[in-house]
Amino acid sequence: MFGRRNPAPAIPRPRPSQPVAPPIYKSLRQFNRVPPTCAGARSTLDERSLGHFTGDTLIDRLARALARERALPVKELFESCEFFERVRRRVRGPLVADLCAGHGLTGVLFALFERRVERVVLVDRRRPPSFDRVLRAAQSVGPWVADKVVYREQRLRDAADSLEPGTSVVAVHACGLRTDIAIDVALALTSAVGVMPCCYPAARCTAPPTLVDRLGAPLAFDIDRTYRLERAGYRIRWDAIPEDITPMGRVLVAWPAPNGKDVEPSAG
Ligand SMILES: C[S@@+](CC[C@H](N)C(=O)[O-])C[C@H]1O[C@@H](n2cnc3c(N)ncnc32)[C@H](O)[C@@H]1O
Repeated sequence: MFGRRNPAPAIPRPRPSQPVAPPIYKSLRQFNRVPPTCAGARSTLDERSLGHFTGDTLIDRLARALARERALPVKELFESCEFFERVRRRVRGPLVADLCAGHGLTGVLFALFERRVERVVLVDRRRPPSFDRVLRAAQSVGPWVADKVVYREQRLRDAADSLEPGTSVVAVHACGLRTDIAIDVALALTSAVGVMPCCYPAARCTAPPTLVDRLGAPLAFDIDRTYRLERAGYRIRWDAIPEDITPMGRVLVAWPAPNGKDVEPSAG
């Protein structure tokens, strides 16, 4: 009478960081015409890369300056630029903090490209030598950067206490739960936040175990983060940088919505 019910079809596990948007270069747009073979390269950005950045745009001039300084690996330029382009509209404000900043290029991009950004605080437990090279390169194409950027050697956990309320927060590959601390900092400051998470420790995920099991830790983590931000009265958007650059390319950008209503930031 009652036939055996077919078992539910298995839900295919998504690949760990499947992008939610087609891979389009939004910052380094020349690579939409000629897809790069080097986007994820860990080799140093140097004179050999100059042929990719021949234009007169500020971003091309910055890339050439970074190459002359041999400031950082090729991949880091792509990562920072493509992340920046995806969050800048929501995150820019007079004060911006780049947490777990490392070489600091992401924060420096806010200082260089966003007129309304007055001060960028880079926070990391250790200031690497690459930051000085990044800063020199940025200053050579945008002298105004020097007055805007400050690097603080500081533990992430102490950042919220030393940042002014309203300071927007970015954190690129802060690693594991440090992404959550960066989100906590933004929540404490009631400010916009953009993160590109990496290193998802399944055992520490606070999402329901069935989600971790069926969707995988990366997706479960980011869904859990999305709910957390939503509950705090934020609006959230997911994006992704091209997978050629990194498989850890998901971008979450969130901003407080006054009275729970979405308010579009003014253009320009
Ligand atoms: C994978 S790197 C990411 C750096 C940079 N955001 C990027 O996009 O390349 C992680 C950074 O977090 C920093 N870090 C690790 N633990 C930290 C902590 N407790 N407080 C502050 N910074 C920390 C490390 O020094 C390192 O620079």
